[in-house]
This record gives sequence, structure tokens and C-alpha cells, in this order.
Amino acid sequence: MKITKFDQARSDFDEVMAAAMHHLATSRLVAIPTETVYGLAGDATDGVAIARIFETKKRPQFNPLIAHVSGMEMAGNIGVFDRLSQKLATTFWPGPLTLIVAQNPMSRIHDLVTAGLETIAVRCPGGPAGALIKSYGSPLAAPSANLSGKLSATSAQHVAGEFRGEDILVLDGGDCVMGIESTIAQVQADRIIILRAGSISAEQLGEVANCPVEFAPASSAITAPGMMASHYAPRAQVILECTSKLPDSAMLAFGNSHERGDLNLSERGDLREAAANLYRQLRQLDGLGMDKICVAPIPRTGLGIAINDRLARAAAPRNSTGN
Ligand code: TXA
Ligand code: MG
Repeated sequence: MKITKFDQARSDFDEVMAAAMHHLATSRLVAIPTETVYGLAGDATDGVAIARIFETKKRPQFNPLIAHVSGMEMAGNIGVFDRLSQKLATTFWPGPLTLIVAQNPMSRIHDLVTAGLETIAVRCPGGPAGALIKSYGSPLAAPSANLSGKLSATSAQHVAGEFRGEDILVLDGGDCVMGIESTIAQVQADRIIILRAGSISAEQLGEVANCPVEFAPASSAITAPGMMASHYAPRAQVILECTSKLPDSAMLAFGNSHERGDLNLSERGDLREAAANLYRQLRQLDGLGMDKICVAPIPRTGLGIAINDRLARAAAPRNSTGN
């Protein structure tokens, strides 16, 4: 495990980039900062690297990974983009949108990445992660950099704490701006299906595509995040919609209408700020060692849909694991 600052404004950026590329080219893993959460990245064409991702995360192998690309050209080498998917990609990339498209038959992506599906999840992150993928010249498979089913990591320190002793190069790009995973969407005929709510809203997608947008039902047969009931979970039991703090619990508040709480996702009731704080604050409260974390009600509009989705999984019974 090594943590290195990864900042395009620093004089050692090229050096760090070269070290990261060497790591990737030798089937090893690199933790990368993205606008959403940190990713645990490996060369998506290299079966040894991908097997290491699953092993390191203790992730069930049937759950496919997102292939991260540097732009539309690399995306077209691995996926087939219909007109609407292409429009969404050119509008929202680089950024927090993952598109599920048919795999390009010429793709060199390893089968372990797609878990045998005919579709592939493609996302183009911005910032230094995008620069790394561009220089490396090949897509990177990267799930969130956390043990399967646990809270996603939004800082290099969270990643390091999760994977102590592993051979991982952690690129420290500071705190993630969004703090919540990408929106996962799939174009089906003349509509968009959202498989995972994220920081790009249904309204934003519908406005650009000018077509209906629907959320996939929780029981959907699609191999997708919804399969995993328990997910994004801290150690403590999570109790939702609390308007006051329960005995022997830590409280995560929102806004100023209810009890103050031990921590507040956003005192001014701003959902973007709440999303950015969500995983870090859940980790902090988990660290207090209480049996329960009670969470105040969060409005179910805009980004609040994604926040409530993650909280519902954090609160779900722990008999299944997630990503
Ligand atoms: O923001 C993000 O998306 C982060 C950063 C690192 O990019 N990544 C992330 O990856 O959240 P992960 O592996 O934790 O979640 C990806 C989800 C999984 O739940 C998986 O089921 C779904 O994407 N997925 C991958 N390929 C799919 C496919 N072909 N069809 C449907 N869902 C797919
Ligand atoms: Mg995940």
C-alpha cells in the first residue's frame, strides 16, 4: 500500500502518472479519485488484474464492473452507442453518468468485467483519473474502492483504511466532489431506464434526451445494483426517518427542522452538500462505536432520491452483500 498525491497542478504529476501506469501494466491495482467516489482500478483487458479486484474487494463474481474510458473514441471500441446513448455521453461526459450499452464484438475487455453479460457499463470520469486513462490508452475497470457491501470511499485515507496491507497504489486526489456513485442508465427503445440513482437526475436526462425516463423496479431482473438489498453499510445498524435521537445511538441530522444530531449532512438543507458528506459522516458516526445510527428524513427530490436509495440499502437486513 502506498499513498501518493495525485494533482495535475503539482510538479511530480508526470512521475506519479508513470508509476501508476507501470502498476496497471503489471496487473496491479491503483485506487483512483473520481468526481463521485474512489475507484479500485485495474486494466480492463487483463484477467489477472480483474481477478485481483474481485479478490481484494471480496466481491461476488457475478456482479459486473464499470469500464472507465477517456472519451467517446475509447468508449466506441468497447460498446455500441445508439443515437440516444451517444447524445447522453457527449452531454454528460466527463462526469458522473454510467451508460449500459451492447458490447462491441471487437472489444478486448476481459469477460470477468462484464460477468458474462452481453452489455457493458461505460463511464468517462473527469479530472486526473481521466488524464490517467488517456495516457494509459486502455479502459480501466473500477468498482468503488471499498470492501464489498461496505460504505464507498470518498477520500484516499478511507481507501487506505479499507485495504491495509494490500499491494495497491492509492492516488490521493483529495475529497470527492460529488460523494455519491454515478447515475447508471440504459437506453431501451425510446426510453431511458435508471438502474441506479446518482448525481445526475432523471429530469436532467429526460431534458437532454427528450424522452420518458423511468426507474428500474427494485425487483428488476436486470443484473444491476438493485439486486443487492444490503449495500453501502456501516457496522452499526442504520435506522431511517428519525425525527429524534433514539437511546444508545448516534444521530445523523439534515437541515435544521429536527434534532441537531451528532453530525449534520447539511445544516442549510442542501442535497448536494449532503451527498458529498454522506459516506464520510456515516464512517465518522460508525467510529463512535454505538449500536445504532439514526438518520433524519431526507427529502425525496433531485439528489435526495440517490441519497435515500443508498440509505435504504445501508439500513437493509445484512443477509446479502453489495459492491
Ligand atoms: O461512481 C461510480 O460509478 C463508481 C466510480 C468508481 O466510477 N463506481 C462504482 O462501481 O460505483 P461499482 O462496481 O461499485 O458499481 C457498479 C454497478 C454495480 O452494481 C453493477 O451491478 C452495475 O454497476 N453494472 C455493471 N455492469 C452492468 C451491466 N452490464 N448491466 C447492469 N448493471 C451493471
Ligand atoms: Mg460500489
